[in-house]
Amino acid sequence: MDPTLDLDAIRTIVVRNGVIAALRDDAPVAADPEVERVDCAGMVLCPGFIDPHVHLREPGDAHKETLASGLAAAAAGGFTAVAAMPNTRPAIDDAASIRRIARDAAAAGRVRTYVIGAVTRGRDGTTIAELRSMASAGAVAFSDDGSSTASLKALYNAALSIADLPQPFLSHCEDRSFGDGLMHDGAVADLLGVTASPSIAETAIAARDALVARATGKAWHLCHVSAAETIDVIRWAQGHGVRLTAEVTPHHLLCTDQALLGYDARMRVNPPLRSESDAAAMRRAVADGIITIFASDHAPHTTEEKEPPLSHACAGFSGLETAIGATFHALPDVALAVMVANFSTNVAALLGVAGGTLKVGSPADITGLYLDRPWTVEPHRFKSLGRVTPFAGMKFAVQPALAVVGGEIVV
Ligand code: DOR
Ligand code: ZN
Ligand code: ZN
Repeated sequence: MDPTLDLDAIRTIVVRNGVIAALRDDAPVAADPEVERVDCAGMVLCPGFIDPHVHLREPGDAHKETLASGLAAAAAGGFTAVAAMPNTRPAIDDAASIRRIARDAAAAGRVRTYVIGAVTRGRDGTTIAELRSMASAGAVAFSDDGSSTASLKALYNAALSIADLPQPFLSHCEDRSFGDGLMHDGAVADLLGVTASPSIAETAIAARDALVARATGKAWHLCHVSAAETIDVIRWAQGHGVRLTAEVTPHHLLCTDQALLGYDARMRVNPPLRSESDAAAMRRAVADGIITIFASDHAPHTTEEKEPPLSHACAGFSGLETAIGATFHALPDVALAVMVANFSTNVAALLGVAGGTLKVGSPADITGLYLDRPWTVEPHRFKSLGRVTPFAGMKFAVQPALAVVGGEIVV
């Protein structure tokens, strides 16, 4: 299945020296003992899935995740590449850090790791980091994810300063004045009497950043969209020629604030789980082609760090090993070619990286799926050190079956 080739057919993929050498409609006879054959009967082979939004926690928080455990989780989850967010400790905000993470990740696992640089120094929200030298060092994008870039002036000037470069900005949209919100401001928060953050905290920053994208001409991407009103902003921007894309996570497609009934601190995440109508709006936005990218926002924390009270629990879930199953589960009516594009082709285009296609001559990065092999989410089996997920015990039909990176079978 390759959306770039408009291909949905039975083929033999021939790989040579890490590159796709041919797509044959016959199965070549096994004559050459040098040729390794992999029987993929029953699987759908796709261009390798790329997760544009993961937190790998090194440096600074190796107790939550290491590069090795995070990349093992990515491979187990069916991903052949990931892009690492810079909200580590310290933040990835200079060229030397970009190079170091890329080198350490290449040594720690076979899944390709792209590195995102911070927009502001130490993610302080005001002091623009050395974006150009990070870009030269290989940064694929810029983001202060974890929070929004606080200063409009810094964000605007940052975008202007590298308007000639292809690297997009990726926005975490939550106004800081609502930073004390522990969950979505809706009926459940009212019932629980918990300090909450309303949808406008997201939508207002999404609008601000869409306007910065329009004013600067810079390619822009909204991370983990969660509020129905934000879809209106994206629709407006895309309708006015702004270069704006958006991603959604499995948890914002499938889960709601109902999960926090009983003050379940494990369900804390930023942006928060919202109402059923918000989740339904996310699913519709994918079906309508407004949201064109899937991201796990893999944000592992230890089980202890996710314990009550709500006000002390870390925000985020381990997501790499459930992303494929949960996303397909949420969107049973979306065409397979669209699902594959959102996991692969569109992500490669966003980040300006190789992959996203099975075209002859491309790197042999391949994800294999079983479309109907039900499995149950068992967090104790995760490769990730983070074992907290909103999907524990759930049954999903789509299962990652194969991850091939540069022609090598990783899983
Ligand atoms: O829930 C979240 N966790 N949202 C973020 O934006 C950051 C992430 C993390 O790094 O833990
Ligand atoms: Zn974020
Ligand atoms: Zn994130």
